[in-house]
Amino acid sequence: MNLPEEKLAYEALVSELKLHNYKYYVLSQPNISDYEFDQLLKKCEAIETLHPEWVQPDSPTQVVGGEVTKNFEQVKHAYPMMSLGNTYSAEELGEFDQRVRKAIGDDFTYVCELKFDGLAISISYENGKMIRAVTRGDGTQGDDVTANVKTIRSIPQQLHGNFPASFDIRGEIFMHKKTFERLNESLKKELIEQGVDEDKIAERLYKNPRNFASGSLKMQDSKEVAKRSLDAFLYFVYTKENICETHSESLTLAESWGFQVSDHYQECANLAEVLAFINKYESERHKLSYEIDGVVIKVNQYKHQEDLGFTAKIPKWAISYKYKAESALSQLLSVSYQVGRTGAITPVANLKPVQLAGTTVKRASLYNADEIERLDLHELDWVHVEKGGEIIPKITSVNAAKRDLFAQKINYISACPECGTQLIRKEGEVVHYCPNDSHCKPQLIGRLEHFVSRKAMNIDGLGAETVAALFQNNLVRTYADLYTLTYEQLNGLSFELEESETGKIKKRSIKEKGAENIIQGIALSKAVPFERVLFALGIRMVGETVAKKLAQHFENVANLMQANAEQIAAVHEIGEKIAENVLRFFSDEENIAVINRLQSYGLNLHVQYDPSIQRSDALAGKSFLVSGTFSMSRDDLKKLIENNGGRNVSAISKSLDYLIAGDKMGPEKLKKAAELNIPLISEQDFLAMI
Ligand code: IVH
Repeated sequence: MNLPEEKLAYEALVSELKLHNYKYYVLSQPNISDYEFDQLLKKCEAIETLHPEWVQPDSPTQVVGGEVTKNFEQVKHAYPMMSLGNTYSAEELGEFDQRVRKAIGDDFTYVCELKFDGLAISISYENGKMIRAVTRGDGTQGDDVTANVKTIRSIPQQLHGNFPASFDIRGEIFMHKKTFERLNESLKKELIEQGVDEDKIAERLYKNPRNFASGSLKMQDSKEVAKRSLDAFLYFVYTKENICETHSESLTLAESWGFQVSDHYQECANLAEVLAFINKYESERHKLSYEIDGVVIKVNQYKHQEDLGFTAKIPKWAISYKYKAESALSQLLSVSYQVGRTGAITPVANLKPVQLAGTTVKRASLYNADEIERLDLHELDWVHVEKGGEIIPKITSVNAAKRDLFAQKINYISACPECGTQLIRKEGEVVHYCPNDSHCKPQLIGRLEHFVSRKAMNIDGLGAETVAALFQNNLVRTYADLYTLTYEQLNGLSFELEESETGKIKKRSIKEKGAENIIQGIALSKAVPFERVLFALGIRMVGETVAKKLAQHFENVANLMQANAEQIAAVHEIGEKIAENVLRFFSDEENIAVINRLQSYGLNLHVQYDPSIQRSDALAGKSFLVSGTFSMSRDDLKKLIENNGGRNVSAISKSLDYLIAGDKMGPEKLKKAAELNIPLISEQDFLAMI
């Protein structure tokens, strides 16, 4: 890499790290593991050592990762909330020990504590009363979450014993693993009941207890927080005057005032004892009821802590040793191929059950054919599985040395496992597809799920799993069958459902109330406007926007069915490919039969006009760009343009007919419009045109 390229790569790395920080601290939804993050951070540090002149003041190596959230009062910390240096290796820990010894000699001890995987909190007490609790935020100031922290039973609001008049205490708020599972399970149920799509459910669940705890503490309603059963361990006391000489004494004192201090800490005389503590909890951590991600090692004597001091970001008297994601060795039994609702094929490895990080793992995702190729996977291979931030483990590598001499390579399937159709793989894509969208079972179920989903027909009470059950029970094969379902058919219908992560089979059944809901939801869906019915039909490439354009242009399904490819493609921004898909859909007799039935059940297969909206073709053939703010909303203005035959565009080009300029319009747009001689008109000028 030459220098400018290297600098660009550095800047890209800084942006990437900032984005990960934002996802972790603000959204509570990280998408890489701590280990991966730390490796990226180390890479960033290495570049910054080589090129100190590039270092950005807000580089993630320079500042604490969090950001303050907007909805809480901001409070400045009396003592900055620093992070800790970290390492994943005994060797680096040895270097830390050497640095400490060089600075303060050998007459000291360490305290080893668990590194609780939650979120840091700083709590201030005055005369024994909790007065404020603040999150780490950006390290200098954080969110005042006192009301929420007061719901945590293990954090006392009133102290007892001989406490200092005024002090701050720091600790970690976390959620127990069991609580996490219970709450995530009930959140899942709630989402199913709301009819949220199966794949969207996974996105909306919390990935781990830490995210759940963090998401909970940021809630605005503390009554809701109270339901989350959060817990806390306190691990650092800040006082103005000295109350003791060592960190371990401070922990004993804090406990005597009523704080919950973890039992799992130990004073260590030397590095060997520190390493023994680390080793002990490497395996024992899975027996704990909460998650830890490492061990924190602190110099015990305050006077030595003072001598060692701080860097800009971290104390030099403490470090954290982080455990790597655990891996286990297992044997590949077979590969199964799942067919998704769009026909996309996902290979899954079935493994000999193995214990990993406290759970039994039987499957791992293989993602696609390239991944199988990358691993050079063979039958009965011995594989290393790892759990990252995600719930489903992945295969990180294959132990080829243990492979049987005659083992066959895993060959990706060529035909759909559900319907036998030859698979296709489009150029430039990694995923294989089954093209048989009209008869392949999972695809049919997928289309039904799409039909009932919120943005389509929005049928309350019908979730993905119920739809699949109706299909399996031969009650519904096509969209139209939904409209002849009866209460009697639904009430008491029981079905089994397989959990994708564990393969566990669970029994469910539709109760009276559920059946009533579904019937009512189906009846209400008949009022859904034409554009959404068109979207619900699931024609390939006809998303919400295209469906809206087609509906507005053709006005009813009969017109659309009679249109030829040119007429469809002529609708603005609808290309030949979409036109081809629309034609293909309407040339299928089975689809026509379904549409005729839908029409007979009273669904909206034509545009319904809102009489309050003015309509004309006064603007036919003219394009408009709306920019700035107006007396009406921009959306209403755009609607007026469409309803009067005009066309909305989103960028200035030579072919633009009018730019409707509102207040606060950007100077760049004005300049470009002037350069291209585009007529500028006001809201009033526009209204006069119609
Ligand atoms: S001591 C100046 N002790 O780890 C000392 N931190 O990466 C500050 N953490 O922000 C921290 N368990 O949220 C300390 N036993 C423990 C801890 C702990 C978890 C967290 C804490 C801190 C982060 C640093």
